[in-house]
Amino acid sequence: MPGDADHFDARPTKPRVVVVPSSQAPRPRDEILAGLAAPRPAIAPKYFYDDLGSRLFEAITQLPEYYLTRTEASILSGHLPEIVREAGGEGATLVDVGAGNCQKAARLFSALRPARYVAVDIAVGFLAASLECLQRDFPDIEMLGVGIDLSAGLRLPPMDERGRRLLFYPGSSIGNFAPDDAIALLRQFREAAGPEGALLIGVDLIKETTLLDAAYDDPLGVTAAFNLNVLLHVNRLAGTDFDVRKWRHAAFFDPVSSRVEMHLEARADVTVGWPGGGRRFKAGDRIHTENSYKYTLEGFGAMLRDAGFARSRAWCDPRGWFAVLLAQAR
Ligand SMILES: C[S@@+](CC[C@H](N)C(=O)[O-])C[C@H]1O[C@@H](n2cnc3c(N)ncnc32)[C@H](O)[C@@H]1O
Repeated sequence: MPGDADHFDARPTKPRVVVVPSSQAPRPRDEILAGLAAPRPAIAPKYFYDDLGSRLFEAITQLPEYYLTRTEASILSGHLPEIVREAGGEGATLVDVGAGNCQKAARLFSALRPARYVAVDIAVGFLAASLECLQRDFPDIEMLGVGIDLSAGLRLPPMDERGRRLLFYPGSSIGNFAPDDAIALLRQFREAAGPEGALLIGVDLIKETTLLDAAYDDPLGVTAAFNLNVLLHVNRLAGTDFDVRKWRHAAFFDPVSSRVEMHLEARADVTVGWPGGGRRFKAGDRIHTENSYKYTLEGFGAMLRDAGFARSRAWCDPRGWFAVLLAQAR
């Protein structure tokens, strides 16, 4: 009689996760304190994503006001066979940038049948846990997690080539970068995709201000909690002594710069200290925590061309709120 061990599936249930260090990436503590001491104080949005921040973002995607995730998902599911055909068919290496809980990529698996799934994110612990669950559901897809800070460049570990590369950057995360930085990042995506590869990207479009304001300032206060949680993360990373009760969430669309801005606003005069320094904030002073640029389809198409992509195709929802574009490197 064969023992139980003979029935074990030998395929790995824990995907490998590698952290790619960068000499270009600033040390979090130095970057955070420089941002807090700046004439216009700011904290980079990448610091939202500790474990709790990653979970709060998942909760945001369930909010009725946060149309982005739902609308993007409906575009992807409504046009999936066509998108897969345009992307060159099955068997690609799918590189999911800012993968989070990996669920958006997972919805592509049945049609795309990737040879390999590479999930890239700064939040390595959350990524590793998400990948481990996903590998159980899809044991036949080779999976790799890559921990990097994209703001220091997209550096993938060496991988033996397996099919074309399809880079996936959903959720309008590109909107967190100012347009020039976004073009520089798109250029890196094109290089990482290689000459036969492509980029599948989600982009939020300009729309009525009331819809944009509500999407980033929901009545339940989930986005407020997500924004305030950055202060707890920063306290751990940089030794600051922020008291979240002394700050409030502020978010609004600025039509001149075509972006939603998120800030944390001091509720009263407050002093924030850190080892070797500190800063006094007056009531109403703000710390800028995120920009989310909104584009027209034409404007974003031009950015893809500026980044060197040869051609692109776009799919939109019937209301024209969101776009998914497939851009070919060559
Ligand atoms: C808005 S969430 C999107 C998650 C998922 N792709 C989606 O569309 O639902 C942004 C993701 O990018 C990751 N991220 C943010 N800044 C990053 C950076 N500088 N480098 C790498 N990943 C980053 C976050 O940890 C988070 O998982």
